Amino acid sequence: NQAETLYDGIGGQAILEQLVDVFYRRVAEHPDLKPIFPEDLTETRRKQQQFLTQFFGGPPLYTEEHGHPKLRYRHLPFEITPTRKDAWLSCMAAALTETDIEEPYKSIIYERLALTAHHMMNTPDKEK
Ligand code: HEM
Repeated sequence: NQAETLYDGIGGQAILEQLVDVFYRRVAEHPDLKPIFPEDLTETRRKQQQFLTQFFGGPPLYTEEHGHPKLRYRHLPFEITPTRKDAWLSCMAAALTETDIEEPYKSIIYERLALTAHHMMNTPDKEK
């Protein structure tokens, strides 16, 4: 009896696509995030969809196309401050709610993403 993956639990590609769409619509409008993301988020969205598919236990789509994720390394060109980490997570929390992802998946997913987001920080906030 194989344990169900998070990927299957939430409903696979279709739900993940909704989540990623809603998430980047929020990122594009967030004053702390907008400045570091490209204007056209098509490719960003596509890669994130691939990454989250494998992160949640689905097929390894990201690695098949781009190799090892090395996420912290790939984020080094961008100043990821505590403020931006919180902004990223607030967009994700809103997207999880808006996509109607149910418990316990919603909380499990949020916790896993919060840990990863924490690991992505590479720059302190500027002092006022
Ligand atoms: C790429 C910001 C956290 C997964 C990017 C890009 C930015 C960014 C600016 C480049 C977009 C592009 O050039 O297309 C941030 C910020 C975060 C954060 C501010 C706050 C902590 C995360 C987390 C994950 C993640 C938690 C995974 C769970 C990715 C992936 C890419 C990406 C898969 C594409 C990498 C590639 O180029 O192949 N992120 N990110 N990010 N991010 Fe994040």
